[in-house]
Amino acid sequence: MGRVIGSEAIEDAGARGRVVFELLPGDIVTDVARETAARLRIRLVDGPLERPAPISADGNTAMRRAMYRRSTRWVAPAAASREARRFTKLALVGAGGVGSNIAHLAANADMADEIALIDIAPGLAAATALDLNHTSGITGTTARCTGGEDLGLVSSADVVVVTAGRARSPGMTRADLIDVNRRVIHAAADAIRTQAPEAIVIVVTNPLDEMTTEMLRATGFPRERVLGMAGTLDSSRFRNALAMAAGVTPADVEAIALGSHGDEMAPIPSLARIKGAPLDKFLSAAQIEECVKDAVTGGGQVVALKKSGSATIAPAHSSVELLDHIRGARVGPVPVSVMLDGEYGIEGVVLGVPAYLGVSGLVDVEELSLADAERDTLRHAADAIKARLAS
Ligand code: LAC
Repeated sequence: MGRVIGSEAIEDAGARGRVVFELLPGDIVTDVARETAARLRIRLVDGPLERPAPISADGNTAMRRAMYRRSTRWVAPAAASREARRFTKLALVGAGGVGSNIAHLAANADMADEIALIDIAPGLAAATALDLNHTSGITGTTARCTGGEDLGLVSSADVVVVTAGRARSPGMTRADLIDVNRRVIHAAADAIRTQAPEAIVIVVTNPLDEMTTEMLRATGFPRERVLGMAGTLDSSRFRNALAMAAGVTPADVEAIALGSHGDEMAPIPSLARIKGAPLDKFLSAAQIEECVKDAVTGGGQVVALKKSGSATIAPAHSSVELLDHIRGARVGPVPVSVMLDGEYGIEGVVLGVPAYLGVSGLVDVEELSLADAERDTLRHAADAIKARLAS
């Protein structure tokens, strides 16, 4: 009897470095699996494929060969290994709580030859870089950290993450920061445009969607290379809330948040799953509503507790998640803020949507079929962002 080949089987083959997927007579391949194969550039080949003829050899050699053939790579050895790419230079504009945590995670993951930290606070970036280099005797990382006050340090970076700017104080909304942080973004954009013209830029500075728009305009870069980090953070907060409410581990929860990184955030309950099942199998409507609220207010809850400054650790992990997608250490769609070009019926606004990323930034926006209310929330978010930028 034939197998049903779904997209997970193809994703799995991709994760194992396969470029060919063998179909056997009677197999049924779903449309999504075919799309996944096309996206991951995995060829679906009608089998059974001819196995290498048995070669007579001594026992040891025969066993080695048998093991090699059984390995997942034997059909197409090493033709397209999915090794993560290493950045030549990762630059971080802003070495406060988020920037320094990103540097720490990036150095530990050894993802770049150089990690350059930049901050206007005298000595802060240089001190953090030195402090991080002092860990290398323990971690063995070969990433070299440098730091200073000069924006020229972004020079020749392949990726620049911008976290610089004012953070919220208790009672402030992210939108209250628009005027002060716009100036910071323009200064960073000038340096990036002239010194790192090929870079992919990830904006973390709030208000996120508006500042990503400013970065896009001020650099003049194509939309593929100007991304905003919010969806990964909001989705992680949403998954955390759902896991706590349902009493399961976060690994059992799949859920995303889209839309704006603010009051118009759109966590998507209709597509969320706990242990593969819709949310209402585990949670009441009121509990789901609470989890949505928790995701939307999560950042504000941290600000209220801290009194001064905002969250740093989860935003850093969420930024690194995007870096991992860009360098190929993670595959599949990821929520990211991008300038929309008609997707979801929205045009000319930066908004969080699921998208595929790669070495040159945005590859493709994924259009999910959403519940009507969720689609409305996205449209409402787009209108609100447009209005804030216009005023
Ligand atoms: C937050 C800030 C970083 O959501 O926007 O924590």
